[in-house]
Amino acid sequence: MVSFKYLSTALLAVSALAAPHGHSHQHLHAQKRTATSTKRGAAYNDASLVQTLSDSGLVSWAYDWNMYTMGDLPSDVEFVPMLWGSKMFTGWFAAIQTLLNSGSEYILGFNEPDMASQAAMSSSEAAGYYLQYISPLSGQAKLVSPAVTNGEGDDVGLSWARNFLDSCTDCGVTALAVHWYGDSADDFKTFVNKATALAAEYSLEETWVTEFALNSDLSGTGGTETSADFLAEVLPWLDEQTAVSRYAYFMCADGYLLSGSELSVSGKKYTS
Ligand code: BGC
Repeated sequence: MVSFKYLSTALLAVSALAAPHGHSHQHLHAQKRTATSTKRGAAYNDASLVQTLSDSGLVSWAYDWNMYTMGDLPSDVEFVPMLWGSKMFTGWFAAIQTLLNSGSEYILGFNEPDMASQAAMSSSEAAGYYLQYISPLSGQAKLVSPAVTNGEGDDVGLSWARNFLDSCTDCGVTALAVHWYGDSADDFKTFVNKATALAAEYSLEETWVTEFALNSDLSGTGGTETSADFLAEVLPWLDEQTAVSRYAYFMCADGYLLSGSELSVSGKKYTS
């Protein structure tokens, strides 16, 4: 599967290059998306800002930590719903069914359950809730695990994820989600390698990095040359990792990938 996917991607890239002049821009654009861009996402709060990233044709999916799009997304961007945590249990089944009926293919699990300020659940508590709220939908969508932080400790970060996967053996999870905040591309790669190794151990087909950023990019005055350099190093690397199927740099907002409603320096890198 994987090698076929990459072979066909390579062939598409070659055919795009071989396309004679006069081929429509639209056609080349579509080939480019297929070749390089399917992993890249927009993590947003304001749906009207996603277009600025997706104009590049390099951003194929988006999520807003929510079960509602909260506005209209560009039509070529796939919305991926999330059950953030217990605050969203009310109304979840109705909201998710609407999205599944309109073609949603994935469901994201709880957001940073290993953080007190986020979904705040132990791995065993989360396994119970996952089974109750997300697993019943496994016939209708692919199920992504709760997204853990890169924190370390007992029932934190990848240790939380391992404990969750040990308790949630019948939950129908097929993808692992992780977040990373740190200071260097090397640390990021080391962490992602540990995550994909964990996913492989549990026979999960995919790993998603649904939030990641340099710590220095988080002041709300980010989007700088430093983060652009970081992205220049890690984006091609992520695209090469067959085990990583999707990722979203934090985030599609002013002070991050955007500066006002335009692309910031790092936003330009993210969309090139
Ligand atoms: C929170 C979300 C929020 C997002 C962007 C996340 O850490 O869990 O609720 O929308 O940050 O601000």
